[in-house]
Amino acid sequence: MTVIVRDLQPDVQADTEGFARVRHLALPYILFTSDSVRHMLTNSHPDAHFRSLIAVEDGEVIGAAGVSLAHDSTEPGQGYLNIYVRPDRTHRGAGRLLARAAEEHLAAVGATKLYTWVLDEPANRAFAEQHGYTQGRPAHFLRLDLANGALPPLPEIPPGVELRTAADFADDPRPLFELDAETVSDEPGEIDIEFTDYDAWLEQSWRHPLLHPELTMAAVVDGRPVAFSVAYTDGATRYSTAMTGTARAYRGRGLAKLAKIHSLHRARAAGLTEAFTGNDAGNDPMIAINKWLGYEICATEVRYVRELG
Ligand SMILES: CC(C)(COP(=O)(O)OP(=O)(O)OC[C@H]1O[C@@H](n2cnc3c(N)ncnc32)[C@H](O)[C@@H]1OP(=O)(O)O)[C@@H](O)C(=O)NCCC(=O)NCCS
Repeated sequence: MTVIVRDLQPDVQADTEGFARVRHLALPYILFTSDSVRHMLTNSHPDAHFRSLIAVEDGEVIGAAGVSLAHDSTEPGQGYLNIYVRPDRTHRGAGRLLARAAEEHLAAVGATKLYTWVLDEPANRAFAEQHGYTQGRPAHFLRLDLANGALPPLPEIPPGVELRTAADFADDPRPLFELDAETVSDEPGEIDIEFTDYDAWLEQSWRHPLLHPELTMAAVVDGRPVAFSVAYTDGATRYSTAMTGTARAYRGRGLAKLAKIHSLHRARAAGLTEAFTGNDAGNDPMIAINKWLGYEICATEVRYVRELG
């Protein structure tokens, strides 16, 4: 059968479900649902030139690629392409076709440097290297067994600190946007990100279909959120942290730990059984927090980079 590559149609359920299924089978540590696939495509910023590509064989989605410019980076011309093929449908040319379509699109919209995540396995690394990519920074996925794992007990809340959920900010989420913007720009990694557009943040992050407002926790001092941990759920039993951060002036006081452990205790009480998180391998404080919470490294991805001539 012939494999073809085409754009995902956001209003076609078989496309969004097929995309989510491929991502789940190839990389189960990041949550994808049909709704989140549709949301990412339909709410992306126009300057990102975002495309979701699918590889289809005999009516079945066997590969998926997310392709965009890093429009919110401080450096122009950087593009992302992340390509996944169902593990039981490799060696049919889907990866090669997706990579070619993604690279052509990124070059056409002005990318000069391409970034891709590669799961740390010899065949995946070889695929990236054959396509002219060189190795960059590693990052880890970590897993916590919420049903049977050893989540530490809740620590004391320090004086002057209150805990709130994201739902408590429903009338005015801007303070959470400001905290997200301050902390995301300090996250270690290859691409420096800067959030400046509140309306885009509302669309993409605040209204993200996987965001769980009652499980997303903020530590608040003098009425202002200063540390937070953002919870996504897949609507069933899986939980994932989309971001944890502490405002610069409040770091080193246990507040990121506090926000995240409260979120995890609530998640466990709500019946969630498995929690995932991901960290740049050089993010020592965040890895220290996650190990203290009981997470264990379950997989490693490596960023690969290619300069376009
Ligand atoms: C990572 C971050 C959230 C930590 O926030 P914080 O409120 O300072 O964290 P806490 O005080 O709750 O806990 C930090 C822990 O890391 C440890 N730590 C700090 N620096 C460390 C280092 N260089 N190496 C190892 N451990 C370190 C601390 O000792 C502390 O553990 P302890 O309480 O057992 O001593 C904060 O630095 C931040 O916002 N960074 C930018 C955004 C980011 O990278 N977020 C994570 C995205 S995956």
